[in-house]
Amino acid sequence: MFFSLENKIAVVTGGQQGVGFAVCKRFSEAGATVIMAGRNSDGKGEEAAKAINATFIKTDVSVEGQVQSLLKDTYDRYGRIDILVNNAAVILPESDIQDLDTEKAKKLFDTNFFGYFNGIKYAVEYMPNGSSIINISSNAGVQAFPGYSAYNASKGAINSLTKTVALELADRNIRVNAICPGSIDTPMLYLPGCENELKMAHYCWPLGRPCKPEEVAALAHFLACDDCQFITGEDIQIDGGYSAGIGRLGLKRWIGEAE
Ligand SMILES: NC(=O)c1ccc[n+]([C@@H]2O[C@H](COP(=O)([O-])OP(=O)(O)OC[C@H]3O[C@@H](n4cnc5c(N)ncnc54)[C@H](O)[C@@H]3O)[C@@H](O)[C@H]2O)c1
Repeated sequence: MFFSLENKIAVVTGGQQGVGFAVCKRFSEAGATVIMAGRNSDGKGEEAAKAINATFIKTDVSVEGQVQSLLKDTYDRYGRIDILVNNAAVILPESDIQDLDTEKAKKLFDTNFFGYFNGIKYAVEYMPNGSSIINISSNAGVQAFPGYSAYNASKGAINSLTKTVALELADRNIRVNAICPGSIDTPMLYLPGCENELKMAHYCWPLGRPCKPEEVAALAHFLACDDCQFITGEDIQIDGGYSAGIGRLGLKRWIGEAE
């Protein structure tokens, strides 16, 4: 069966909502045993996991020991980890660097960089040869957007981490790739202070709309499965054509010739 994830053990961080949830759902439907990691303790994580036949493990990825426990618990329960999706991340409201609180920027890095770093660091010993690591990054890690210095830099760091670890793990045939989406229609897009992101999707992405979380999940599915054997060390853009250039639709909207 093409693109099957039967018999695969997959760990997805930040899986309660948005992209993480879409990835968990798709992986579960493709046959994987899915461990959804999330930081909330309001019962919604367990509920979300139950709805898609996944298992919830409470984990704050900014805390090294909790990442370690998540991966060890998964290994103890299932015997291996075939797929790791580092997805949990946060963004700060738009603010130029001189007004950005350094402690908040450091905290952001604890999740957006060290959450991913520790995820890989502590998963590799439990991963058999041929496994797949997927880092949900952002096109903000490739192209800069003013007002998001810490977030952009954290994503740039993930793209660099992805390449380095891909080289380190190549002799074990463990593939490591980053997915770099443009704006995605998830709760993150509607946070206060992120209003310009939605406008960018409308005016700047050639396809003229934000990405759907399910579209990111479809790419993650391809990178996770055994049909994808020769892609590693990539940062793959899924941005409605933005990295290709300026589209006509946004321009027409700008000058009032299109809705
Ligand atoms: N939404 C966008 O426009 C956009 C664009 C490009 C890339 N991304 C990336 O996609 C990924 C998913 O984002 P999303 O849009 O689904 O966002 P979201 O805010 O809707 O979901 C993020 C999830 O991560 C969880 N999380 C945050 N910090 C955590 C921590 N320390 N420990 C455990 N869980 C934590 C949140 O509780 C939430 O469930 C992120 O890496 C984000 O940077 C998002």
